[in-house]
Amino acid sequence: MYLSDEECGMLDGKSGAGIQRALELLVALGKTFDADRLIPVRRAHVALSGQEGDTYWCELLVNGGAKCVIPATTNPCWDVDYLTKLYEVTDEERGLALRTINVYRRIGAKLTFCCSPGLGTNIPFFGEHAAFSESSATPYVNSVIGARSNRESSVSALASAVIGKTPRYGYHLDENRRGDFLIEVEADMKDDYDWGILGYCVGEAAGSRNPVLVFKNDVRPTKENFLYFGAEAATSGAVAMYHMVGITPEAPTLESAFGGKHVPSAEMSITNGHLEDTEAKLSPGTGPINLVMLGCPHYTYEQILEIERLMNGRRVHSDVKFWVLTDYGSLELAERSHARERLERLGVGLVPDTCIDEPCWKSFEGALGVTDSPKCAYYRERRGQPFAVRRLSDCVEAAVSGRVA
Ligand code: F3S
Repeated sequence: MYLSDEECGMLDGKSGAGIQRALELLVALGKTFDADRLIPVRRAHVALSGQEGDTYWCELLVNGGAKCVIPATTNPCWDVDYLTKLYEVTDEERGLALRTINVYRRIGAKLTFCCSPGLGTNIPFFGEHAAFSESSATPYVNSVIGARSNRESSVSALASAVIGKTPRYGYHLDENRRGDFLIEVEADMKDDYDWGILGYCVGEAAGSRNPVLVFKNDVRPTKENFLYFGAEAATSGAVAMYHMVGITPEAPTLESAFGGKHVPSAEMSITNGHLEDTEAKLSPGTGPINLVMLGCPHYTYEQILEIERLMNGRRVHSDVKFWVLTDYGSLELAERSHARERLERLGVGLVPDTCIDEPCWKSFEGALGVTDSPKCAYYRERRGQPFAVRRLSDCVEAAVSGRVA
């Protein structure tokens, strides 16, 4: 792997121990994946997660003098001030969250605490090289925007943020961005939920291959549709790049989606029946619930307004908490329009900066929850709370009745 004189000097520690550690990691990654050199990136997104390993890595770099040299937005952790007042956490859990937030502040990250950066807080241009972690963000910037990022970890994304470079391999190269196999979609795509379930089906079939989707019906996905699709395809599979023919920018035609190579026949055809089977598989049970959790990935302002429309003035059942996780920009809009106030009067809480996979939610564990996101169900179940996965309108009905059918 070629390194410039400046990079060799950094690797020898001439720019400080923090830079040295970060570059060691990028070079090791580059050698592992046969990168020929490092290339500049203009932006990064760091999935900081609030877990000990990620926080330790950031401390190691910043204590060694490293600082972000490009804008690096951050994934959510949890709103420590707000949620600690409502729910039980240990001193250790609270301490780790505060340590995480503080150290990312010290290294110069943009503390956006949002898991959908490509929608607003950190949007690369078409063809731009970037270093994005967060499994739902990477497929969005690669496929919908046409920017170029590998599936970075929080560790490698932060290393890129302080060096301003990434190894040139994987999705930075034309040959790895082409479609690998073809899927026909016959299902009706009605809302974000259908797109999420479709993503889950596609991810299971794809693994880490690049799927190319052709739709039988005329579909025009919204930004939320794309986000839900990619988040789920990266949950059931490891999809970081997909093409939708006639829709996404690197697939104006079927031939271009496959890079001008032979177009294979369709490997599968996804119908409404497939989506229904997947939904049934994802739902462990029915009955009383204690939690409705939406916003994995973070809900946009438009989605918040849709909750209000579906609530239609009804109150959340007294045995149920209803939480919507969102980004600070959407929350600000909800406050300006008084939608937050109106929803909170009905028992629907909005919280910024927060991920579903954090210790602040543990008091709900042991009972059934409802979500519209298979990704949320997947992570919450690992922490001990089963979740039924339902369409948003059904989540709202469950919130009002106190049970999921
Ligand atoms: Fe966001 Fe956490 Fe879900 S980062 S996508 S809320 S797992």
